[in-house]
Amino acid sequence: MRSRKVALLAALISALACAPVDGPRQSVERGDGAPPSASAPAAAMPGAPGIGDTDFPKDGNGGYDVSHYDIAIRYTPATKRLDGVTTIQAAATQALSSFNLDLSGLDVRQVTVDDTPATYTRQGDELTVRPARPIGNSSRFAVKVSYSGVPEPAKDQGNLGTYGFVPTADGAFVASEPNGSKTWFPANDHPADKAAFDFTITVPAGVTALANGEMVGQPTTAGGKTTYRWRERNPMVTYLATATLGKFELRQGRTPAGIANLAAADPRFKSSLDRLYTTTAEVTDHWTTVFGPYPFGSTGGVVDDYAAGYALENQTKPLYGGFDPGESIIVHELAHQWFGNSLSIRRWKDLWLNEGFATYAEWLWSEHKGRRTAEAIFTQYHSRPATDPIWKYPPGRARPDDLFNQSVYSRGAMTLHALRKAVGDQTFFQLLKQWAADHRYGHVTTDEFVALSERLSGKELDALFDAWLFQPRRPS
Ligand code: TRP
Ligand code: ZN
Repeated sequence: MRSRKVALLAALISALACAPVDGPRQSVERGDGAPPSASAPAAAMPGAPGIGDTDFPKDGNGGYDVSHYDIAIRYTPATKRLDGVTTIQAAATQALSSFNLDLSGLDVRQVTVDDTPATYTRQGDELTVRPARPIGNSSRFAVKVSYSGVPEPAKDQGNLGTYGFVPTADGAFVASEPNGSKTWFPANDHPADKAAFDFTITVPAGVTALANGEMVGQPTTAGGKTTYRWRERNPMVTYLATATLGKFELRQGRTPAGIANLAAADPRFKSSLDRLYTTTAEVTDHWTTVFGPYPFGSTGGVVDDYAAGYALENQTKPLYGGFDPGESIIVHELAHQWFGNSLSIRRWKDLWLNEGFATYAEWLWSEHKGRRTAEAIFTQYHSRPATDPIWKYPPGRARPDDLFNQSVYSRGAMTLHALRKAVGDQTFFQLLKQWAADHRYGHVTTDEFVALSERLSGKELDALFDAWLFQPRRPS
């Protein structure tokens, strides 16, 4: 829900590069040809096609800030056809003659801005919307996109495989990190823009729809179709949005500490359901004692039969793809609810702030359970030979062509353990809680983490962070 200096800069650059196409809204409304006064609003310009992440120049968009997505979809597994109407509430961060949304594939039928039809063009994954009248800087507006088609999941060159909206035999597996949300709804598809979400999902009766947050009312069935409503009221990045569909066994209740808990498993993973439910409850409650209050309205997890082989920390409902999730992956995905989901990165380079923390949480869990200590796990990684690829890849700058490299996870976690040893347990655990509290529902950068570490410890820590995060060699 916050704009970025860099996005403004990108918008400015694109504004300088393009001649203004529209006059300010005010003169359009008056239409009296009065000469602009010194206080005339800035000319409306096209919003930038990217939010300003230089590693992913087309991801997200400039010129506005989304506060709410209302995603209404109808999906038929037999035909793989999706019909959608997504309404986005946004505020302009510049005067806009046009702006972009990210959308991949799918046919657009209509776009309106504030209920007035808008013209639009498409080029690659960019949908450019030109409202009938320019939008004034700071104005709130609603853009509604009606679309349909067979969603095509995104494919990663690296180690992620297929992601986004992935059709399965009985529904869909929806895991969109880093930029797969645009495969199923038009979006400002970058973690720098967080928003609340409402979902209205209509599927054939017998199919369950599982989205983020909590269910609103009870599902309604008519004409052989069931409609589910879900609401995530807390800010969420687009890649954590899900509408995972299929036949599911459910178990619902509350954790011992009282947090609503929903576990779901594809019938093929029925035997995983109880353990998923109880481990999720135990781990969620434990992390509240280490990281501070649970940020969201509910916890849970979904095991689908799509053999992704990995999990994603979808907000309130981590998704496990085609395997019986063991304790440590549940621990990891639930730690992300604090680090990654409540606290989100502004640019993909800082991904270790998600993955390093979630991986270190696995080490903390092992220690908590009286198994191997974090120190023992750290030592084992640290003793890898200097030629190991983990030492060549500095985790503090995740590479766009290899974002989810092992170094971002394991060397990211080692960074936190090195920090713990440097500042002592008391300061370190105070720091984890303070970090989560200071930036709850917001955005974070590596520089901010270094600054807080130095402030709480009273120590100069530049050399430590530089060696662990930024050097292409093994720290001693
Ligand atoms: N963030 C996930 C994890 O470490 C990994 C991941 C990245 C992923 N992109 C994904 C999983 C897309 C599923 C789909 O837990
Ligand atoms: Zn992770």
